[in-house]
Amino acid sequence: MCIEKNGCASNLTKQQIQGGIVVKVLAINGSHRKGKNTANMLNIVLEEAKAEGADTELLEITDFNIKPCLSCNQCLRKTSCSIQDDVQVIANKMMEADAVILGSPVYFGNVTGLLKMFMDRTRWMHMCQNLLEGHIGAAVTVAGLRNGGQEVTLNILERFLQSHGLMVVDSRNVQGGIYNIGAVGSLYESLEGEQIRWNSSILDDPLVLHQCRQLGRNIVKAIGKWRG
Ligand SMILES: Cc1cc2nc3c(=O)[nH]c(=O)nc-3n(C[C@H](O)[C@H](O)[C@H](O)COP(=O)(O)O)c2cc1C
Repeated sequence: MCIEKNGCASNLTKQQIQGGIVVKVLAINGSHRKGKNTANMLNIVLEEAKAEGADTELLEITDFNIKPCLSCNQCLRKTSCSIQDDVQVIANKMMEADAVILGSPVYFGNVTGLLKMFMDRTRWMHMCQNLLEGHIGAAVTVAGLRNGGQEVTLNILERFLQSHGLMVVDSRNVQGGIYNIGAVGSLYESLEGEQIRWNSSILDDPLVLHQCRQLGRNIVKAIGKWRG
């Protein structure tokens, strides 16, 4: 549960969090492949959040039964959905989490089909009331190409989070330089003549690691400000 949101006089410190105040960070991997590049990025964000004292969990979208929205419009009148499947399970975890991170590979300049189905099915969480209002949100994305649609996909993910009332944090260290548009990855390594060399894993890219780690720290800091 998101408990004690207004319970402390000042921002939560790392010591307070590690001293027993529970903060929860949930990541949802929208990739159609478990444990690959998007999952790797999300895991780095979560590792860093954990090091800052957060409880963390990664959900793989492929583990859940998610039917497409029927556009029945029940959600215009009720904070519920007419379809019974696993969306409620994920939704409950989102509502219990202080922060939700969405990850998606770029598929044709957009999020994956499975993640989009899930996103549409969350409409009941914001039509009558914004049930996630004020929670912290963040997004990561990865594409094959160096400029393969990461920026658009990141915008789509962040806009979705904002429409649910989440406060989106980015991967910038405010006391440091600006290195990229966000926690975005590519498998491009270099071009030799006409031959592209690809990284076999997103973990080979130090910039991605840096941005994901910073995002993890920023998320816990934002939770501390929100709950403090
Ligand atoms: C259906 C499909 C569409 C894709 N579209 C793009 C694209 O528009 N731009 C791009 O750079 N890469 C594209 N890719 C490549 C993936 O973004 C890339 O392989 C990514 O690392 C996959 O993430 P994952 O390892 O978490 O599965 C596409 C891959 C698939 C399967």
